[in-house]
Amino acid sequence: MTQVLILNGPNLGRLGVREPEIYGHASMADLEREGARWGADLGLSVGVRQTDDESTLVGWLHEAVDARAHVVLNPAAFTHYSYALRDAAAQVTSAGLLLVEVHLSNPASRESFRHYSVVAGIATGTVAGFGFDSYRLALSAIATKLSG
Ligand code: DQA
Repeated sequence: MTQVLILNGPNLGRLGVREPEIYGHASMADLEREGARWGADLGLSVGVRQTDDESTLVGWLHEAVDARAHVVLNPAAFTHYSYALRDAAAQVTSAGLLLVEVHLSNPASRESFRHYSVVAGIATGTVAGFGFDSYRLALSAIATKLSG
């Protein structure tokens, strides 16, 4: 079965309690459950992970390349400044795998420091602003692209 890793960066482990007016009330545990269910419906084997640590996230991107897994990546604040993460994410797409950048909020409509993504330029595409549904839309886009 086609493997997809949903990888989440710093502070996303606080989903549900962190600024719910921006990020919603659902938790990372909800994403783990829903991600597996959405994946099953789309014929994808989905794993969900979260870390606050940059080097762990870089390592998971390397793992995705080696395992030939596609990636849904919410880099959280790393989006805006981590060149290390950008370089690791570039290895995913240059290996011919899909990488969809995801955000719960729409960073373009928020503070100016969130307007620039160092990841966007090497991603297959970006889904932002739809809350938890951003992840489902990203999985759906991967399934559609792989079937086309
Ligand atoms: C985020 C947006 C980022 O700007 C922010 O640092 C996050 C979450 C989102 O999902 O909306 O932590 O990636």
